[in-house]
Amino acid sequence: MDLKGRHFLTLKDFTAEEINYLLDLAAALKAAKKAGKNMTSFLAGKNVALIFEKTSTRTRCSFEVAAHDLGMGTTYLDPKSSQIGKKESISDTANVLGRMFDGIEYRGYGQEIVEELADNAGVPVWNGLTNEYHPTQMLADMLTAREYFGDVKGLKLAYMGDARYNMGNSLMIVCAKLGLHFVACAPRKYFPDAALVAQCEEWAKESGGSITLTEDASGGTKGAHIVYTDVWVSMGEPDEVWTERINDLTPYKVTMDIMKGAAENAIFMHCLPAFHDKKTEIGKEMGDKFGFEDMEVTDEVFQKYADPVFDEAENRMHTIKAVMAATLGITLEDVR
Ligand code: CP
Ligand code: NVA
Repeated sequence: MDLKGRHFLTLKDFTAEEINYLLDLAAALKAAKKAGKNMTSFLAGKNVALIFEKTSTRTRCSFEVAAHDLGMGTTYLDPKSSQIGKKESISDTANVLGRMFDGIEYRGYGQEIVEELADNAGVPVWNGLTNEYHPTQMLADMLTAREYFGDVKGLKLAYMGDARYNMGNSLMIVCAKLGLHFVACAPRKYFPDAALVAQCEEWAKESGGSITLTEDASGGTKGAHIVYTDVWVSMGEPDEVWTERINDLTPYKVTMDIMKGAAENAIFMHCLPAFHDKKTEIGKEMGDKFGFEDMEVTDEVFQKYADPVFDEAENRMHTIKAVMAATLGITLEDVR
């Protein structure tokens, strides 16, 4: 398997074999790190640029730690202090950074921006989240599912909430590619785009998976191995949407009743950050305003399933390391 020089923009561009290879590589890199193996010679002397037009904890830290573990230098460009977009076009930025760096991560708004960056950079570009997709998160989620269930093929993953944004889209794609049964539980207006659903149904036919869209929260999550949710309002969305989202999505909150209807060995997953209590500024503000203690998941569920959720967060680092390693020329044989 040779992924050297490839961009990582959405899992739509990757075959099941390639995705599984990245998961194998991530598992090997994780095991090597746990065993104390020094891997700084793998990509020593290389440098990566990390562009964040939206904020981040996990993705930024994962790229930085992973790059350093592989011997690379990192330059972080924050949402405010570079010229990108305001004084310099994306294509000019790509041309400049491509001459200095060996790879570029981009987190921001439209998918077309990361695509334009990739078209002009001349080095691998990695999508660290756009409005439409969050592909590095998918690798972490599937690695975590492998760790809990072994093979992911045939598992049922139910996603509760806004299924037409980056997380809903990306989970539907990865499930279709790897043969999981994906269920989106949401009001109809939050169902993913019909063209993407049709494309995923084609992939699911080949992989043995399936795609179901339902407004029935308890029916849709019944027997699920993984119950997944995300925040109800994503980064970059206007504050005005909060009231409508809370009204629309409260019936799709992950509660203990939902988890009781899931499979006996079910886990709860969340890409994080999560509003499961009022210990955040927004959680407190919205909780006080609308009179609740939590939003997309109850604190009881979150605490009960904290292990898989934080394993998932840790796996962001190991899987992002695999993406950088593979696209910069490190293979599974190098790690084993
Ligand atoms: N899950 C995730 O992407 O987290 P951050 O926004 O903290 O990077
Ligand atoms: N849908 C969320 C995911 C955060 C990791 C957002 O875009 O803000």
